[in-house]
Amino acid sequence: MEFYKYFMDKQAVNCRPLRGMRDLFGHTHQVFQYIIKTAYEVAQLYGYQPIETPILESTSVFQRSVGETSDIVSKEMYTFEDKGGDSITLRPEGTAAILRAVLSNSLLQNLPLRLASHGPMFRYERPQKGRYRQLYQFGVEFLGENNPLADVEMIAMAYHILKKLNIASTLNINSLGDTQSRENYNQSLLDYFSVYENDLSPDSKKRLYKNPLRIMDSKDPSDRKICENAPQLKQFLSKESQDFFEKVCNGLTMLNLPFQLNQYLVRGLDYYCHTTFEFTSTQLGSQDAVLGGGRYDGLFNQLQKGIYAPGVGWAMGIDRLSLILKGYEAQKFLKIGIIPVGEKCLNYSLQITQQLREKELAAILLYQYQNIGKAIKTAMKNDCVYVIIFGNDEIKSQKIRVKNLTLPADHPLKEQVFKNLDEFFSHVQSPPLK
Ligand code: HAM
Repeated sequence: MEFYKYFMDKQAVNCRPLRGMRDLFGHTHQVFQYIIKTAYEVAQLYGYQPIETPILESTSVFQRSVGETSDIVSKEMYTFEDKGGDSITLRPEGTAAILRAVLSNSLLQNLPLRLASHGPMFRYERPQKGRYRQLYQFGVEFLGENNPLADVEMIAMAYHILKKLNIASTLNINSLGDTQSRENYNQSLLDYFSVYENDLSPDSKKRLYKNPLRIMDSKDPSDRKICENAPQLKQFLSKESQDFFEKVCNGLTMLNLPFQLNQYLVRGLDYYCHTTFEFTSTQLGSQDAVLGGGRYDGLFNQLQKGIYAPGVGWAMGIDRLSLILKGYEAQKFLKIGIIPVGEKCLNYSLQITQQLREKELAAILLYQYQNIGKAIKTAMKNDCVYVIIFGNDEIKSQKIRVKNLTLPADHPLKEQVFKNLDEFFSHVQSPPLK
């Protein structure tokens, strides 16, 4: 007996999902679907077309583009060798993968392209409220357009979606300028931070000689203190970069889209230039960014040398939005429960259930034919509005005996008998299933 128990335990599967990952079902699943549907609907108004890329990519797609010194590449990627010995990575973000898809499907000739996409991303981060290792994003990329008004449109679309979802948030924006501006700034940051080298956090120390700009993004309290007196990026912006940013800010003002300038907003991915932006919510605690993005004019060239095409985009965190989205109720549609009285009535009941579905009415067959009361309870749990009961008499007479589960027991229409299925069909006016 003891041995048997031991054997069983050895066989037992760990039924918990992996840390930072979760099963989505019920209300949360419905909220996710609602957010995704709303986002695609709005994106369509701005001319965006859907694209889906694989969840696994060659590691190189993300390594150089997202940046060796970024948290994502240096510590968060799920990277492993496949059976053929190739290094592959579960996508930590969507932008590099979409640009890879544009290159591999010869879509460059179709620029400008407006692409929208959604799906799971994977980052090995420390899980906490609003931070998961399998996270879900909806994102948009506008490829091949270098006009600053393209950035404005992008941000307007983000505002539009958040407004439709009834999410209150604040827009922070910044400019990282062009390559030369950033190089000058990085040099000046190196000079400044070198003085404090011993006081910097271990992560920032590592970044000091590789990419000091990323130190400005550090959340470490002692780093933050040192950053307070660091040189400011705006002092290093070239005339062209300043003009570009001014046009973005003027465009936002023209469309009455409020924003806050935030010189620390360098973002966690290395591919950005010029505009960076983030929408934050006060309802989320420390993981407060619900949507982030920016311009990435050099990203195509990082993936394939010699290809220069500008791009701008953003992604929003569906998990985080679902935590703060209030008052969503799934649209109820008419559902019917079919109760066979006894096993003999089961086949007939299944046939009728199928006919209801063919008429675009949702129907479930309740298999608890030993106990009608139990079957009705199951129907109620499943949000059925009606149950139809099939005993021998109904099968013989072809009549349809219906109980309306939403009416009180003494209501005259609580129980109705229809001559046949067609009469019942004309009685129920239901919205067709989506
Ligand atoms: P990101 O800022 O890394 O940007 O992610 C975008 C959004 O995804 C964040 O604002 C946040 O809402 C959500 N998010 C990120 N990490 C997590 C996590 N661990 N758990 C839950 N939610 C998370 C990008 O990914 C860029 N590819 C955006 C972009 C598109 N830039 C240009 N085009």
